Amino acid sequence: MQDAAKTIEDIRKAMGSRLAILGHHYQSDEVLAHVDITGDSLELARRIEGLEAEHIVFCGVWFMAESAAILRRKGQKIHIPAPDAACPMADMARPEALNVALENLSASGKKIIPLTYVNSSAEIKAVVGRWGGTVCTSANAKTMLRWARERGDAVLFLPDKHLAVNTATAIGIPEEERHILNPGLIDGEPSLYVSSEEAEGKSLLIWPGYCPIHDEFTIKSLETIRREDPEALVVVHPECPPDVTEAADANGSTSFIINYVKNAPEGSTIYVATEANLVNRLAERHRDEKTVKVLETRVCDDMAKTTTDKLAEQLLSLDKAEPVEVAEEIAKPARKALERMLKACA
Ligand code: 13P
Ligand code: SF4
Repeated sequence: MQDAAKTIEDIRKAMGSRLAILGHHYQSDEVLAHVDITGDSLELARRIEGLEAEHIVFCGVWFMAESAAILRRKGQKIHIPAPDAACPMADMARPEALNVALENLSASGKKIIPLTYVNSSAEIKAVVGRWGGTVCTSANAKTMLRWARERGDAVLFLPDKHLAVNTATAIGIPEEERHILNPGLIDGEPSLYVSSEEAEGKSLLIWPGYCPIHDEFTIKSLETIRREDPEALVVVHPECPPDVTEAADANGSTSFIINYVKNAPEGSTIYVATEANLVNRLAERHRDEKTVKVLETRVCDDMAKTTTDKLAEQLLSLDKAEPVEVAEEIAKPARKALERMLKACA
């Protein structure tokens, strides 16, 4: 498009408060230059309720727009400039497999509370809501795992095995009480065979999903930093593997990482293990006071699908475009699951 930035700004000006554009921290600088609210998954979910705008445009991945469509007010329209921006981790949990797993695990009379990471489909959130469970983000995983543990005999955490293990370690759930479920194949399709015997004596059952971007950070590169630059600080996202997370100085959501870097002493060097757009932005923002580096360069191709061209195209067709819709029979139980989280973390 000829001048996407100008088109976007002209439309923003013309529409005023009828339009709100939201963007996740992993979006590119070019896109974030045009958003009204930037945040981590929790902040963005929280802001939906208070928005008055008629059109809400979500620069992020599909599950974020779906959550917004579940939490929006009547009459509001949710749009996503890149509807093909999926989250591969969210796709690792299928509602049919979750239902079967929950039925099998509770066959012996045990009360299983499902806790899904917000990086999951609306259908998964609906199953979780129907089973009395809730949602967490990387910013509130500890609070929500405690919440779930108070309400049942065991918790089924999905889909991110690394976030589950890192959170369990942070709140002191012993290793012998955790069990990572085994993926199998049914007719060549990935599935989960889960039996109640498998869950015997376990209070935390863990879905075997992961984020392909964060899963690739290795303990080897962290150990190299420790050897070559022992004074440097290392902060990582809790979607990273447990050995990386445990060896880091701190871990937390994208907003936590932003604050960690901001509060690090002047003159320090900070290595960050998360998506490269955010790390490069922090390096630029703090370049006069501290050195910020990627632990390894990892880019989320799905987050990168939103470009200023796509945002401009979306804004040009707002009145004609099909908004993101979630059928009410799915939205209702999914909303319940999301509202339990928003209430617990108010
Ligand atoms: P947060 O911004 O909530 O930490 O989420 C990270 C992420 O991977 C989003 O897809
Ligand atoms: Fe999904 Fe990972 Fe990309 Fe986040 S960074 S959208 S968790 S694939």
